[in-house]
Amino acid sequence: MGPTIFQNDEAGRKAFEQLACKAIAWLVSYYESVEQRPVRSQVNPGDIYARFDDTLLEDPVSDDILFRMMDEVIIPGMTHWQHPNFYAFFPGNTSFPSIAAEILTSGLAAQCMMWESSPAAAELEKRCMEWCRALLGLPEGWEGAIQDTASTATLTALLTAREWKSGFRISKRGFDGTMYRVYASSQAHSSIEKAVRLAGIGTDNLVPIPTDEKLGLRPEALEKAILADTSKGFTPLCIISTIGTTGTGAVDPVADIGTIAEKYGLWHHVDAAYAGTALMLDEYAEMRKGLDSADSFVFNPHKWMFIQFDCSLYYVKDSELLVRTMSIQPSYLKSAYGDRVNDYRDWGIPLGRRFRALKIWMTLHLLGTKAIKERLRSHLALAELVVSKIKSDDRLEIPYPRSFNVVTVRIKSELDPDGAMTRQLVQTINDSGKAYMTHAAIENRSLIRWVTGQTYCTERHIEDTWEVISELLNKIVSS
Ligand SMILES: Cc1ncc(COP(=O)(O)O)c(C=O)c1O
Repeated sequence: MGPTIFQNDEAGRKAFEQLACKAIAWLVSYYESVEQRPVRSQVNPGDIYARFDDTLLEDPVSDDILFRMMDEVIIPGMTHWQHPNFYAFFPGNTSFPSIAAEILTSGLAAQCMMWESSPAAAELEKRCMEWCRALLGLPEGWEGAIQDTASTATLTALLTAREWKSGFRISKRGFDGTMYRVYASSQAHSSIEKAVRLAGIGTDNLVPIPTDEKLGLRPEALEKAILADTSKGFTPLCIISTIGTTGTGAVDPVADIGTIAEKYGLWHHVDAAYAGTALMLDEYAEMRKGLDSADSFVFNPHKWMFIQFDCSLYYVKDSELLVRTMSIQPSYLKSAYGDRVNDYRDWGIPLGRRFRALKIWMTLHLLGTKAIKERLRSHLALAELVVSKIKSDDRLEIPYPRSFNVVTVRIKSELDPDGAMTRQLVQTINDSGKAYMTHAAIENRSLIRWVTGQTYCTERHIEDTWEVISELLNKIVSS
């Protein structure tokens, strides 16, 4: 029999209700107090591990003990991504509707691999892909599926490109000695290198293309690299452009890259993992230019669109190529519904899939797209406020122009020739627990990335953070 909460009877459901209400109340108080916590966890490696016994108990413990452990052990070991002073990496933001939807998804506990395994999940996913396509102004014919991450989407793109280019031979017979080449800017995300490795292309065949002063890919350098490779007997396979690089938010010239991809017969994948969300704003409409020639595109609502991890939208121009690459149909998985339905297990790598569409639907409908756009614009305005603060201090400089809400800053080279003080500054900011930012080395020089995309970040948070930075800077520069 086991404990009451292991039964789906009246007493079991009551016990579940009590536990779930406790969990919600705990979360409400977490959001009330999150600002009082250090943004980046201050524990040392092994601290949390050591707090858990090495053996499991046979009998259940009281949930009071577990909630106490949440407060005393888990929370100190958390980095608080939903703290308004979280400016590190790219945000992984969320909103209350998204959290509520995830609770419902986990309660339904469905595995949505094919239409029949939950028609609502498959059909809502199709709608969500269409809504987001229209919201971002993406080309009308594109179709796609929700993936866990942009890394998976980019690997999926590369596998599809590989099959398309080889006439679907590689998936059947393996590689035949053709040496494929993949191109991306020197600023492209590491997930691209990983995808090249996993797709069997070989990382020696990933060609980094130089960038201009704003760190966007130089199209003439791309064309030169393709021609040089062709003359050496390589087969150019795929070019990946980025809208919003991880280091500085740089944007590649997608339209020009698309023209080159078409001219030389390359697959063109666009990695807009972070900044894709900004395409919904009319002021970024220019960045949609040339997308209609792309073969595939990924963006992550789980970064900046208030729909929490994991939620990555992958679009393709030709869904047949994708499905032909991914589909495996043993008899027990054959669908009786044929073309009338989408079996999304054939639109990506894993067979099993979560019901991710529920949180997209609920978040878009409970927030409304108007408020989402307003919040994005407020984040962009906060980034501009950060720029003005930095400009007001003549010890600091902004090495690359603000792109979206990504601001870069460093201590001027006359004060900090080797970047040591800049590195010390970011470390002391993060150690203070007051704010969390990321160090990056771009073009061999240290800088600090300050990204204003946390859902609840406001001017007050920027002002407070600026005060912390100014104080730390005074100490570092005068010491
Ligand atoms: C430009 C870019 N592409 C891809 C990724 C990988 O995203 P994911 O964690 O969804 O795989 C990131 C992560 O920050 C990114 O910044």
